Amino acid sequence: MARKNDVLVRFTDVQKSYDGETLVVKNLNIDISRGEFLTLLGPSGSGKTTTLMMLAGFETPTHGDIELGGKRLNNVPPHKRDIGMVFQNYALFPHMTVSENLAFPLQVRRKGRSEVAERVQRALDMVQLGSFGNRRPAQLSGGQQQRVALARALVFEPTLVLMDEPLGALDKQLREHMQLEIKHLHEQLGITVVYVTHDQSEALTMSDRIAVFHDGVIQQLATPSDLYERPKNAFVAQFIGENNRLNGKVAKLNGSNACLVTLDSGSQVQALPVNVSGEGSPTTLSLRPERVQINPPEGALPNVFDAKVEELIYLGDHIRTRCSLAGSDDFVVKVPNAQGHSSLQRGSRVKLGWAIEDCRALDA
Ligand SMILES: Nc1ncnc2c1ncn2[C@@H]1O[C@H](COP(=O)(O)OP(=O)(O)OP(=O)(O)O)[C@@H](O)[C@H]1O
Ligand SMILES: [Mg+2]
Repeated sequence: MARKNDVLVRFTDVQKSYDGETLVVKNLNIDISRGEFLTLLGPSGSGKTTTLMMLAGFETPTHGDIELGGKRLNNVPPHKRDIGMVFQNYALFPHMTVSENLAFPLQVRRKGRSEVAERVQRALDMVQLGSFGNRRPAQLSGGQQQRVALARALVFEPTLVLMDEPLGALDKQLREHMQLEIKHLHEQLGITVVYVTHDQSEALTMSDRIAVFHDGVIQQLATPSDLYERPKNAFVAQFIGENNRLNGKVAKLNGSNACLVTLDSGSQVQALPVNVSGEGSPTTLSLRPERVQINPPEGALPNVFDAKVEELIYLGDHIRTRCSLAGSDDFVVKVPNAQGHSSLQRGSRVKLGWAIEDCRALDA
């Protein structure tokens, strides 16, 4: 894991505009620790690739500085940055064999013949393709090509590896296999990785920290569990995992641990004030489906509402139960398919309850 405070990459007030008018990256400030696996996660067009391209040196920031190992990078060309790269279309050289593909970055760096041979073999063994050196890319499966691309990015032992949706083209099973493989390589080699994806489960699986992008701004930069358990705003709560949203207004703020929210339907909910500006301000309440309790014991929870079961969707390990509650007809509860757990009937009436700390009052 990363040694804390040992900063490898630093973005300071970085902005990027392609047309001189709109900023697609706005005031980016990030410190990436040596050895860290940092993921840029966000919807299409939010500025992830642009950020990676500036770090790689293929795009220049319109404003601000990027430092690598304490050195300002702005005028250093890509091939002098000591950065390995893997992209979605892995772009192996089709006319070269696998070994020649891997040797290329070493030859560019003027390594001797025996060192090249040794490092190529080691990199191929690392991605479990030790006997594939003489094949051409067209003679490999998609997943094997992706592993060659990974080996080629690592073969010259770069300080930093950038990956932009490297698994996008693979089927689900192979993608999940490669996620773990990349994660394990990262741990074994102690390299620093900046990874781009718009797949939240991929980000949660692989990362030490995740930067959630939206509109060229980092909405939250935190560990996977922090992002899921403690989203700072409605965008992050919506983007990471599933959440129930209830709209209302803050009726009363009781310090920093509780507030009373009047929903548009008139019901009142006790919630944790996270991102509200004061009494009277509109808010979105966010509540994870697995934190809702069905028919809780009398008096056990501060929030209990009557609900009607509208729809049951069987998903094997749990039953996704859609209910109507407090003016919403899309309130989802996850009922685990565990032994002894009572199942609900469509059309039946239940009480649903939740704790204050599980119900986050966020921006509207
Ligand atoms: N070379 C370019 N010239 C002009 N505009 C660009 C260029 N590259 C990207 N953009 C614009 O900048 C914004 C951010 O694009 P970027 O490629 O960084 O998004 P992204 O987060 O990587 O999205 P995706 O998930 O779709 O890959 C988009 O609005 C895009 O249209
Ligand atoms: Mg992109």
